[in-house]
Amino acid sequence: MRILSIESSCDESALAITEQDTSLGHFAPITVLANNVLSQIDIHREYGGVFPAVAKREHAKAFTPLLIKTLADAGMHLSAQTPIDPAVDGELAILLEREPELLEHMRAIMPTIERPQIDAIALTVGPGLEPALWVGINFAKALALLWNIPILPVNHMEGHLLAAIVSGHSEAHGKHVLTLDPVTYPALGLLVSGGHTELILVETPGSYKLLGETRDDAVGEAFDKVARLLGLPYPGGPEISKLAELGKPGEYHFPRPMLSSKDYDFSFAGLKTAVRYLIDDLPELTDEIKKDVARDFEDSCVEVLTKKTLNAVKEFGAQTVVIGGGVSANRKLRNTLASGLESIGVPLLLPDRGLSTDNALMIALAAHLHPREHMPLERIRARGHWRIHES
Ligand code: KG4
Ligand code: ZN
Repeated sequence: MRILSIESSCDESALAITEQDTSLGHFAPITVLANNVLSQIDIHREYGGVFPAVAKREHAKAFTPLLIKTLADAGMHLSAQTPIDPAVDGELAILLEREPELLEHMRAIMPTIERPQIDAIALTVGPGLEPALWVGINFAKALALLWNIPILPVNHMEGHLLAAIVSGHSEAHGKHVLTLDPVTYPALGLLVSGGHTELILVETPGSYKLLGETRDDAVGEAFDKVARLLGLPYPGGPEISKLAELGKPGEYHFPRPMLSSKDYDFSFAGLKTAVRYLIDDLPELTDEIKKDVARDFEDSCVEVLTKKTLNAVKEFGAQTVVIGGGVSANRKLRNTLASGLESIGVPLLLPDRGLSTDNALMIALAAHLHPREHMPLERIRARGHWRIHES
């Protein structure tokens, strides 16, 4: 099974081509023929955050050149001289009515490339920014029409969750091969990104139960907002984390929100406000203070996430913990969770740092590991608020 995966839920345009011998089961090694991510972070940094209209415009610019590069990386870029069938061209024009730039690029480029040997397209349809999601969706539909291949809709958070089960990388016949960890279930998933903070019970890939989630801001959002208060650039997570490593512990005593609540919910808005009040009252925000503030803020987030995760492991008898989403790149969180879980003998699976933030390989993993039905093109639409436990 050879899959082209497409990701455009936020500020990364990403494509990957992967192959798996499905006769060996869903946990068979996956060969990565190509994996490309084009980040818009530099553009959004100027605005201090992600604007959906800007993200949409940048995705529309990115996808055709990215497709050419991805096919070339996979050794599948073969030149052709095949004009688009007039009936298909008519459908394409309707489909890409709101993406004139993409339509123009595709009309220019698609007749020059041969249909690649790809069996299906795995596509992020949510959750995420709907204008951004729609560009990936319309691009996928256009390819599905031109190449006559099916689309497998994927939940972006499922991709983040399953990215952690890659256990090794090797090279075989000059190709990059991923080996997968045969996870023992039930597993507990901690999803931490710019839009989500969730604890999920994973019965098997594809069977998820939501144990708890944030009641207000996501933890990544809190990192980004506190970074802004400290005058740091977007995205704030990595910046705070770097500063926190230089800060002293316990200089400030920010709240540990919902640390002792009996449920698995989170709340980060109050923590961010506590940082704001402190900064508002300071005569001067020095570099030393910034480091110490970053340290206690990060310590608070990590303490709450770790304690709730450990509690859930015990209550639900989880055999493995997997962590996913951009904030899983946070070193403090990775180390603290790893040592907490080690003390109770439960393995922690972490995504490689390159697989923590948005990419298309994680979308491929979700499609390979959790087989799903093809969906007719007219039923595929953006699901900005699609939750992982909902079908
Ligand atoms: O999963 P992701 O790439 O995009 C979403 O789906 O949201 O996550 C992005 C989030 C941002 O809020 C960013 O600040 C945060 O992940 N992040 C981090 C770190 N690296 C990225 N937060 C804390 N520490 C990090 N090292
Ligand atoms: Zn994400």
